[in-house]
Amino acid sequence: MTQLVNSPKRFLVLGGSGKTGRRVIERLRRRGEEVCGISRTTTPAFDWHDSTHSWQQLLNGFDSVYVTYQPDLAIVRAADDIARLVVAARQAGVSHMVLLSGRGEKGAEDAEQIVAGSGLHYHILRASWFYQNFSEGFIHAMIKAGEVALPCGDTPEPFIDADDIAAAAVRCFTDPDIAAWLYEITGPQLLTFKHCIGQIGTITGKPLRFVNLSVEAMVDVFTSAGFDHDMVWLMRHLFSEVLDGRNSNTTGMLEKLLGRAPVSFSEYASRAFAASSAEATASEHSYIAEGAGQ
Ligand SMILES: NC(=O)c1ccc[n+]([C@@H]2O[C@H](COP(=O)([O-])OP(=O)(O)OC[C@H]3O[C@@H](n4cnc5c(N)ncnc54)[C@H](OP(=O)(O)O)[C@@H]3O)[C@@H](O)[C@H]2O)c1
Repeated sequence: MTQLVNSPKRFLVLGGSGKTGRRVIERLRRRGEEVCGISRTTTPAFDWHDSTHSWQQLLNGFDSVYVTYQPDLAIVRAADDIARLVVAARQAGVSHMVLLSGRGEKGAEDAEQIVAGSGLHYHILRASWFYQNFSEGFIHAMIKAGEVALPCGDTPEPFIDADDIAAAAVRCFTDPDIAAWLYEITGPQLLTFKHCIGQIGTITGKPLRFVNLSVEAMVDVFTSAGFDHDMVWLMRHLFSEVLDGRNSNTTGMLEKLLGRAPVSFSEYASRAFAASSAEATASEHSYIAEGAGQ
């Protein structure tokens, strides 16, 4: 395994404008680290689904890489893409990789094993569902429309703060005492979607209702809305398998990584939706700029 040396590093974030990627960048910059984010819309551009460009060229000159896969490590081609990334990273001289993964997904486990067996110094953060799905992800549009209709009302999930994930990633990158390992990280509490939507409705003071759909009804909704076949497959997989109760437990590992309590859903929701406009971005940015937590 590659040894870490205590010298200035250059960090690369794949998915640098994403929910966790931009928070990892903000946290590394606040520490004075040199960090770049890349994705389809940056120059140079990086696209997981474009195999015509050399990934080694993009990785040259970087020591440490934070990896967020798109759209999800559950999809069939994910393991091949991660294997290709690992080869390019080794050829480019990258020494340390932190992979963001998801819980209860066979495809994600295959990708994790590739990173763990890569010979790179690695950390894997296998995370539960993010709070920010409500304020920055696909559920936000439903909240703005006043109705969240999904097949998940009563399944408890230990939702986690994307900013806590970023804090954990930065800890892995910068603290040599954090062993190379797979860390299964969750938020502090089991909550149902129905409860979360109820709490957001109370904070915004706007009409907001939760409708518990069947999986088939959700598939029909996403298909009629024009989602492509792969995305509809992914939604079905997430809501019928990942959210079937297999992940309804907290692990306590995030607390150990951060050395503090994780951000609670109430704290997140009151910061993200306090303006009662259900527009999370501005209030979430000021939250990060205030330097919340580790
Ligand atoms: N959301 C959850 O609850 C949850 C829970 C556990 C694990 N995860 C995992 O988290 C990962 C996503 O991380 P995230 O939520 O931090 O990111 P995200 O918010 O989904 O980020 C989107 C980022 O990825 C870039 N992107 C989109 N498509 C791309 C492509 N084809 N090639 C390269 N870049 C692309 C986007 O920029 P451009 O538009 O410029 O390309 C943007 O920077 C997924 O693998 C997911 O499985 C999510």
